[in-house]
Amino acid sequence: MSKTTLQTVAETRRSVYALNKNLPISTNDINQIVEHALLHTPSSFNSQSTRLVVLHGAEHEKLWEIAKAELAKIVPADKFAPTEAKLNMFKAGAGTVLFFEDTDVVKGLQEQFSAYADNFPIWADHANAMTQYAIWTTLASENVGANLQHYNPVIDAKVASTWDIPANWQLRAQLVFGGIEAPAGEKSFAPVADRLKVFG
Ligand SMILES: Cc1cc2nc3c(=O)[nH]c(=O)nc-3n(C[C@H](O)[C@H](O)[C@H](O)COP(=O)(O)O)c2cc1C
Repeated sequence: MSKTTLQTVAETRRSVYALNKNLPISTNDINQIVEHALLHTPSSFNSQSTRLVVLHGAEHEKLWEIAKAELAKIVPADKFAPTEAKLNMFKAGAGTVLFFEDTDVVKGLQEQFSAYADNFPIWADHANAMTQYAIWTTLASENVGANLQHYNPVIDAKVASTWDIPANWQLRAQLVFGGIEAPAGEKSFAPVADRLKVFG
């Protein structure tokens, strides 16, 4: 694969919010993309602490009903309509990938390599984010739209009880995916000159 191909795919990945249930690939293909990213994304000390759950169809819809129910407990009733509309937008997608970190693995590393103890939770999140990016970008290469959400920790307890998630799996992010109902909007770019220095 050429650099051009990789860069084209990187540009194709966008936050697509208007999603539908008409996936251009099968759910098995989605599962394979998720599994491949899980296997081939790097992690500090090759610790492989990222954990994933894929929710398709009715299970995905259940997640966004959970989010609605949990947010209804904390958002004032007279301000809930925009929140509900947003959550219904996610529910309109075809599926969601839940990203977790295994806190037992992170704790084990902190004990084993105490000099780096403060860094391990940070590195775990780096590796988790790399996995998010790998899945998001590969889905984009197959014309599957996606957007990244963070309803943790509000939904954590209900997610854990609904899908029997181990207590040591900490929810970090949710990637909603689906057919592209409408493309992403225009994107602005801060000047590269303010963000990049090259020497030599
Ligand atoms: C670490 C990170 C956290 C993000 N969290 C959210 C989020 O909670 N909700 C959301 O709608 N978008 C979220 N986004 C998406 C960004 O807003 C989006 O990537 C950015 O505006 C650039 O747009 P693009 O994804 O279309 O390139 C997040 C992106 C990153 C990298």
